[in-house]
Amino acid sequence: MKRLLYALPGNEALTAKLASELDADVGELEIRHFPDGEVYVRALTSPEGRRAILVATLARPDQVFLPLAFTADLLRDLGAVDVGLVAPYLAYMRQDQRFKPGEAITSVPFARMISKTVNWLVTVDPHLHRRQNLAEIYSIPALPVHAAASIGRWLNDNLDNIVLVGPDSESRQWVKAVADIAGAPFIVLEKIRRGDRDVEISVPDADRWRDRTPVLVDDIISTARTMIETVEHLKQADMKPAVCIGVHAVFTPGAFEELKKAAVADIVTCNSVPHASNIIDLSALIAAGIETLQIGTR
Ligand code: R5P
Repeated sequence: MKRLLYALPGNEALTAKLASELDADVGELEIRHFPDGEVYVRALTSPEGRRAILVATLARPDQVFLPLAFTADLLRDLGAVDVGLVAPYLAYMRQDQRFKPGEAITSVPFARMISKTVNWLVTVDPHLHRRQNLAEIYSIPALPVHAAASIGRWLNDNLDNIVLVGPDSESRQWVKAVADIAGAPFIVLEKIRRGDRDVEISVPDADRWRDRTPVLVDDIISTARTMIETVEHLKQADMKPAVCIGVHAVFTPGAFEELKKAAVADIVTCNSVPHASNIIDLSALIAAGIETLQIGTR
């Protein structure tokens, strides 16, 4: 029997693409809220005897987790063989250290909760900075796939004479991988974060590349402060207007508009978080990840 994909609200477009890549069916859910705010979940397509896959990006995890947990539990209750999760953006990965005494390292309990909720996980470029791999915190099979090749190919097809720019040392891994595919040079700047919305980019070395279009690449664009600060430094160095590429279009309210105001040439993101800036399609990449992971979990 074909696998059965279910989209949590907002994930319908990617789910349809994945179903086509995987030759899977799409099941229907009814998810709504009661007047008191509690969530109502109903499966309109029976998962009985089938492998179920939930598609739920986790850019707004606090709103999504409970509907996700209830749906996974429901599908098992209704006889699904197993329930996997495709979370193209994986939340809470940045809170991986106790920066101040008494702080919660939320990446760990979040991983524990997801591991109790579903049988396996496929995600895109999780923010692995102080951790080497997902297995350090996830106890289920958890496979990250990487958007670098998709971004590199998009650059090859769409832009000439570029220099890739990583906003900070954490972005080096993505920028180098994209640069290798795009066959372009890259530089990495240094970032000092003083607070949630207070970021300074130091030592811009960008003026060496004035004749090229700078292409900023980062895994996450959230408040967009990292991108905006970097763009400002490139401007001061008389660089051309930058193209900003983010894997995950998390964008807090107003952030996309602020970034546009910074006079960037373009803002391009992948479709791991639905957003108007999504241009690079990762469905084939994610589908390949699902196939790889499911071969190991049959
Ligand atoms: C940081 O560790 C990440 O790689 C991104 O640079 C960061 O999440 C971007 O955040 P924001 O858009 O809020 O500056």
